[in-house]
Amino acid sequence: MSLSALQSIPEGVVNLADFEPHAQAAMRPQDWAYLNGGAADEITLRANRAAWDRLGLRPRVLRDLSGGHTRVRLLGRELAQPVLLAPIAYQQLAHADGELASAYAAAAQGAGMVLSAQSSVAMEPVARVFANEPGSGPLWFQLYWRDDRGFMRELLQRIEQAGFEALVLTVDAPVHGARDRERRAGFKLPEHIRAVNLGGLKKPLDLQAGQSALFDGLMPRAATWAEIAWLREHSKLPLLLKGVTHPEDAVQAQGLGAAGLVVSNHGGRTLDTVPATAHLLADVRAALGADYPLLVDGGIRRGSDVLKAIALGADAVLLGRPYVHALAAAGALGVAHGLRLLRDELEIAMALCGCKTLADAGPHLLWPRGV
Ligand code: FNR
Ligand code: LAC
Repeated sequence: MSLSALQSIPEGVVNLADFEPHAQAAMRPQDWAYLNGGAADEITLRANRAAWDRLGLRPRVLRDLSGGHTRVRLLGRELAQPVLLAPIAYQQLAHADGELASAYAAAAQGAGMVLSAQSSVAMEPVARVFANEPGSGPLWFQLYWRDDRGFMRELLQRIEQAGFEALVLTVDAPVHGARDRERRAGFKLPEHIRAVNLGGLKKPLDLQAGQSALFDGLMPRAATWAEIAWLREHSKLPLLLKGVTHPEDAVQAQGLGAAGLVVSNHGGRTLDTVPATAHLLADVRAALGADYPLLVDGGIRRGSDVLKAIALGADAVLLGRPYVHALAAAGALGVAHGLRLLRDELEIAMALCGCKTLADAGPHLLWPRGV
């Protein structure tokens, strides 16, 4: 699989958000509703953004910042910058090159990538892109639990063989949120776009009269804490959990040997009215202690948002919808350009806050009372 012809960056794009109108123009309205929508009234979707916006940064002046950089350490290796592409399903909805284009862009920019379980592109070519790019960020594979241990064993083996460095089990979506915007738009996957790395689903359980499709059909097959141990037993790769927001869940995951966590509300797509991740992050960090790998996502659009996330205790961030906007607007080049713009903003924000490295970022940089 190779990329289609290089596209150009639309005129006037100077930051990540500038790709959005171009993406909307390039996509079918129902696919746009799937990509950009959230759950129910989209309160969490909006809150994620608003929280980063309202959190102030306090500049520090006149420090010697020569030799500064954006490098961080995560799971035993160095990253050029603390940014990974979040797992986003079915990227061929945005562009024919799909996840492959995102992979080339991330690898070239020294960003990491978490490939969605529901990738529309096979995992092996994506892994080869990272293997062939020295200095690329980490490549992780996101999993949804499937109550079929034979299937899971084979999938885990394939992920390891392809060369992924870690597993990310998403734990906040055992059932789809109530996606009103998506349903109003009548979103349906087109025939030619599929989760190509997954086989067919098991037959739904037979329900008796009066039983709940959710509690008696779906939940008996959903992951519980017991499956964390099973996954750890059946793969050598470090296992992170994505979608943890409660400090007690975080501590339980840490105790069960999870290698790290992603504080996430799924970009406001699962339970509406979950607080913004910017509000939740510091308590989770406090519960886990300083040295435990912790990431955050939701609403990150600016380099200054990345700095705020690090200041609140994250080691790195996942970037969601905006890179898919860049993908829809301008393919691999769009994503690479978007990542570069974000990193430039991060460097500027660091310099203006007097941070030579990200280790200098902490709560002292923040003005939590609102800009
Ligand atoms: C997602 N997200 C997601 N998460 C996951 O673990 N597996 C997946 O397959 C998907 N798929 C997916 C599709 C689409 C269209 C969106 C928008 C999101 C959630 C994603 O990884 C991430 O948590 C959020 O997107 C982060 O929020 P922002 O940056 O989009 O605001
Ligand atoms: C979503 C699923 C795929 O958010 O995680 O659409």
